[in-house]
Amino acid sequence: MIIKFFVINTMEIEFNLTDEQKEIISSKNEIKKVIACAGSGKTSILTGNIIQILKDKVCKPHEILALTFTNNAAENMRERIKKNLYDDYIDTDSIDIYTFNSFGNYIIKENSFILGYGKNFKLINEVQSWQIIYNIFKNYDFKQLKAGKDIGKFVKDLLDYIWNLKNNLITLQNLKDYIKNYKEYLADYQSSGLFREEEEKIPYITELAGIYDIYENIKKKNNYIDYADQVFLPYFLLKENQVIKQKYVLKYKYIFVDEFQDTNNAQAYLLSMIFSKDKNKLMIVGDDDQGIYGFRGACIENIRDFSYFGETA
Ligand SMILES: Nc1ncnc2c1ncn2[C@@H]1O[C@H](COP(=O)(O)OP(=O)(O)OP(=O)(O)O)[C@@H](O)[C@H]1O
Ligand SMILES: [Mg+2]
Repeated sequence: MIIKFFVINTMEIEFNLTDEQKEIISSKNEIKKVIACAGSGKTSILTGNIIQILKDKVCKPHEILALTFTNNAAENMRERIKKNLYDDYIDTDSIDIYTFNSFGNYIIKENSFILGYGKNFKLINEVQSWQIIYNIFKNYDFKQLKAGKDIGKFVKDLLDYIWNLKNNLITLQNLKDYIKNYKEYLADYQSSGLFREEEEKIPYITELAGIYDIYENIKKKNNYIDYADQVFLPYFLLKENQVIKQKYVLKYKYIFVDEFQDTNNAQAYLLSMIFSKDKNKLMIVGDDDQGIYGFRGACIENIRDFSYFGETA
């Protein structure tokens, strides 16, 4: 007996793009920015645009970079492109579809020797990062920082503090510099009350910087790369090395970003490193009211403020 399984996948339902969607896809702007509400067909415009440039053969599949936020969304995007392209001769598997972190990993892997990690570095997960911070806190005598009842949550807060710094591209040196020169940094403060409030934080920030310092050292000693490093390290690599930066700028003729409202500063700045107005084109798709990653430091300003791309879109 032969049993046939019919898998009904809603993604396979075909539809015609609306005129508005088509118009956006056919526009030749260097930067395309699509802001629309949830479920309004933004990802369809993005995949539709990728399909169009593949059909028009204006670039090779591997010259396309598409960034999104989850592995699921990345796979989903590839499926949508594959299904709607109707051209088996175009190798959709070679389109670079990544999450921001997996894209960062790819850059780290390609440049691991230059970064000083060699080939045997290890990506650590959030639990492992938590464990390192926990051990640091247990083993050092901090005077200001007190754990309270829920040490698990407290350690998580410490980790979030460090990750928040890294997601805003604030290095340990930047933080130490702030502690040393906070009076100059706060010189603009008109209110003495606010100044004092900030000043009172300095002893705490000093201890937090100590934890940041030890955490970074432990990672370095063990050749570990944590979740935030996956974007932080590539950003500084490209910022400080023009040759490597140019390599990635030239590698991608077209760059697409889905769910741009969820990018944090480090991600947006990494993107700005590989985008160059006269070398590649950029399409950004996002939703103004849908910052589901707000708790991870995603910055809605990223979608409104394009100043770091040297252009307002
Ligand atoms: N022109 C269209 N006609 C019919 N259905 C469409 C059209 N465009 C998109 N859809 C369908 O609408 C649904 C939502 O589209 P899509 O995922 O592109 O929207 P989105 O704005 O990216 O959503 P989200 O906010 O969830 O990211 C999908 O199932 C898609 O297949
Ligand atoms: Mg979408």
